[in-house]
Formats: sequence, structure tokens, C-alpha cells
Amino acid sequence: MPQRNPQGSVHITAVTRRRWTAWTVLLGLIAAGCGTNGLPQSALDPAGPVAQAQDDLWELVFWIAVVVFVLVQGMILFAVFRFRDRGGDEIPKQVAGNTKLELLWTIIPALILVGIAVPTVQTIFELAQEPGDEALDVRVIGKQYWWEFEYVGDDGQGVTTANELHIPTGRPIALAMQSLSATQPDPGADESPELGQAVSAGVIHSFWVPRLAGKQDVVPGHTRRMMIQADEPGVYPGQCAEFCGLSHARMRFEVIAHEPAEFEQWLSAQAEPAQAAGGGLAAQGQELFQSQQCITCHAIDGYEAAAGAAAEVRVGPNLTHFASRRKFAGGVFDVNDADQLEAWLANPQKVKAGSQMPNLGLSPEQIEALSAYLYTLE
Ligand code: CUA
Repeated sequence: MPQRNPQGSVHITAVTRRRWTAWTVLLGLIAAGCGTNGLPQSALDPAGPVAQAQDDLWELVFWIAVVVFVLVQGMILFAVFRFRDRGGDEIPKQVAGNTKLELLWTIIPALILVGIAVPTVQTIFELAQEPGDEALDVRVIGKQYWWEFEYVGDDGQGVTTANELHIPTGRPIALAMQSLSATQPDPGADESPELGQAVSAGVIHSFWVPRLAGKQDVVPGHTRRMMIQADEPGVYPGQCAEFCGLSHARMRFEVIAHEPAEFEQWLSAQAEPAQAAGGGLAAQGQELFQSQQCITCHAIDGYEAAAGAAAEVRVGPNLTHFASRRKFAGGVFDVNDADQLEAWLANPQKVKAGSQMPNLGLSPEQIEALSAYLYTLE
């Protein structure tokens, strides 16, 4: 009840206006949360056939749920108001068991579930089909805390990247996903370990690019497969979606979709080995890279001494084309920001806790040289 005072009407108007303003703001905020276009990580804004098929299922279930919600809540409200105790009434007739009603509310939900199950199972089987010959094969390896992408098919030219998965548009990409721990192989062993052996101490990650497909857990000791495909060129951000340790939130990546011809150009450029640094600061950096511990965890294709550990067990990214990338350290820092790169080299743990990159105690001069060298790796 509005208070009655000498300025009654003025008071009520002010309160009413404030209340309306509050409601308008609240509804505006709620409505703002409903938009899906332009959000880089909205699963409700699918950008390829796999995400579209999954979104179609979501839409179906959502609208069925809306109808059920409105009907059930409507009937509850109707019963509450229509049959409420108006005082003085006698206790109504007590009934229990009505075969017709019970059949009805068993059969209707069962039909709804069948209606959801049939297209769901159909979609699951469709998405689980073996990829055809036209698919591009990429191996995804979840490491602590970054993603490695290896183009393993005949047409992949053996290219390896970190934190960014480049794909051609309009072509299915067949991902074979594995999780690797930081466990180094036994140096005394004759052969490099099988993939399954090296992963025994690995953790579960989850590969998720919301606009291209749903999540897929990446489990140590298993190979999980999934398909993604992008219709249009663009950058589709992804991230690890399973808690995997201290820097789980900093385990991001990007899927970068190109027109097919542009993708082939990119792939050929990436297949080139690294050029040796010509001289000056960069050459000092290269020398450091090979003499310091860098090379025990990283690889640079192109010169023998810098081969690094086998990809299966390598802790750090292959840096052959480091300077061509957009991000580093799990998609967290900008490659083009030299300050971020130098802060990372100076103390990786400080800028990304839990990272496998140790603090090598580098001097500012060494950091400068390494940074100069890394920027030659285009
Ligand atoms: Cu990897 Cu969370």
C-alpha cells in the first residue's frame, strides 16, 4: 500500500517511476544476456555443420521444454487460484488413483522422450561416422597448459603448431585427440615410448570451440575423435573446458579458418624449416637456445642440433614458426608484444602459474638475445 501523506500523489508518482525504472533496467539486462550474435564463444551461434547439428538438437529440446514448462506451470497456477481455500469450505472429496489420468501422464512424457531420443541418437551416429577421404587429419595433443596441433595426413606436410589450429573452410577436419603429461621419457630407453606409455601420468583436458562443436574430453591413454568444420573464414576462440591444474583457465587456443587456397599457402609456409639466424643479437639468441635448456623441451625443425625431444613427449611447443603465430603460452600472451615475451622468458611461473616452463635464471641480455632470435622464426 502506498503511504498516504500530505503530498500523497507526488510521493506515489516518484515511487512508481523508480519502480518502473528498476524493472526496465532489469529486463534490459536480462534481454542483453539473450543475444548470441557477435559473441566469440557462443555455442548458440554455430559456424559450421557439426555445431549446427548440435544446435538444432538444443533448439528442439529447448522448445519442447518451453511448452512443457508453460503448460505445467499454467495448470499449477490455475489449480492454486481456482481451488484455493476461500474459508468455511468443507474438506473436498479425497481421490486417489485415476487410471485414465495416470495412463495419460505416463504416455505423454514417454512420447516426448521418444521425440527427443530419435533425433538425438540419429545425430550422434551421424557425427560419429568415419571421416571421408576429403577430411583433413589433425592430431590434437593436450599438454600442460597448451594445445599442440600436428597435421598428420599425407596432405599435412608434417606441420606442427601450438595454440592455433588453422583449417580450410568447407572441409571436415578429423581430430584425433590425446592428452600428454609432462613426463619425460626414460633417457636410458632404447626406443622412444609409445604414445600410450608416455601418458600414464597425464590429466584430462577438454577441447572446446563453442562455435564449431561441442566439448570433447581428451583422456590420457585414449584417442578421442571428433569432427569440426567451419563455413566461413574467421577466428574461432576455444579453450580447455575440464579442470586440469593450476593454469587450466589459461589453456586457450584459436581455430583460424582460411579459404582453401589461403590455407594451402599457410601450410606450405609452415612446412618450411627454420632458417638459421644470420648474425648479431639473433645469432647469439640461437646459440643460447641450443646451449641452454630450451632445446630439451622445445623443437625447431631445420637444424639437427635443435631437433628436441619427440613430439609425443615434448613438454614445450615446436617453435619453428613461432613469430608467425598470434599467441603463445597456451594462447594467453600476444606474440607481437615483446614485453610479454620477455616477462615470460624472465619468469614463466610468475606470469603463468603451474606452467612446465622453468625459470632458467636468464640475464636481461640473454632474454633480449633469445627474444630477437624467436622473432626471426617467421
Ligand atoms: Cu587443460 Cu583445463
